[in-house]
Amino acid sequence: MKVDGKIIWITGASSGIGEALVYELIRKGAYLIISARRNSELERVKANCPVLTCEQIKILPLNLAEHGTFKTATTAAINYFGKVDILINNGGISQRSLAMETDIEVDRILMEVNYFGTIGLTKYLLPHFKENGGGQIAVVSSLVGKFGTPYRSGYSASKHALHGFFDSLRAEVYKDNIKITMICPGFIHTNISVNALTEKGEKLNEIDKAQANGMPAEVFARKMIRAIISNKEEVNIGGREKYGVLLKRFLPSLFNRIVRRAKVR
Ligand SMILES: NC(=O)c1ccc[n+]([C@@H]2O[C@H](COP(=O)([O-])OP(=O)(O)OC[C@H]3O[C@@H](n4cnc5c(N)ncnc54)[C@H](OP(=O)(O)O)[C@@H]3O)[C@@H](O)[C@H]2O)c1
Repeated sequence: MKVDGKIIWITGASSGIGEALVYELIRKGAYLIISARRNSELERVKANCPVLTCEQIKILPLNLAEHGTFKTATTAAINYFGKVDILINNGGISQRSLAMETDIEVDRILMEVNYFGTIGLTKYLLPHFKENGGGQIAVVSSLVGKFGTPYRSGYSASKHALHGFFDSLRAEVYKDNIKITMICPGFIHTNISVNALTEKGEKLNEIDKAQANGMPAEVFARKMIRAIISNKEEVNIGGREKYGVLLKRFLPSLFNRIVRRAKVR
């Protein structure tokens, strides 16, 4: 499969991983519908692409917490280029607070945006994929969608939930030629920690050391596109933190001891 000429809808395209995906996919000749809440940032991302590619990018502002807007947004996304081939569910928000100190409302926001926002949009697009004889859905989860770490309880739960939903969906829509690729990033250099919610739902406004030293978003985007093109069902992308998945599976007690001491803030 090639992305050249494919019509791809990307959420969370105003920053970080989503922004890096836009530049890489445009370079590869894809047609893009880019979504996030901040229209001005989407305009900036579009303006950073070569002038010649202007017609290849449509801006569709969207708040993943506002489910009432998804139906209209999905119709608009399909109408821009006549169809959608790939949905990249990337938009999301993280957390930096201990479970015991975190308002339940913060857990609800994380679930609303990361889980319900992602599956909600997917459900609106599925009938279109079925009618078209197929499609692909990439979901940006996290390594903490595979194991929990301190300061991420609600975030980790929202990403774990995505795996349950999309593993079930993958089996259901195999016959409809709809493919699902789960992407689990480790530490990637973006504003994820800056935008992360703290105990009362305020932004952390700090870049974590792990993210500052993490994989550049451009490098991540290239690896993620390779996983989509080769139709991988699930892929872990990051530095040595990605081996946590294997450690948890084969040496869970050792893994739990390491996680207790992990400097993840
Ligand atoms: N960076 C990492 O180390 C890392 C690790 C694991 C997983 N991830 C995942 O990677 C994805 C992208 O994050 P990032 O690292 O690129 O962080 P980022 O720079 O903070 O980007 C997050 C993106 O999500 C959008 N977004 C947030 N809340 C939204 C909402 N309510 N509605 C619509 N869009 C919303 C933001 O746009 P607006 O603010 O304009 O809405 C932005 O475009 C997320 O799902 C995150 O969980 C990142």
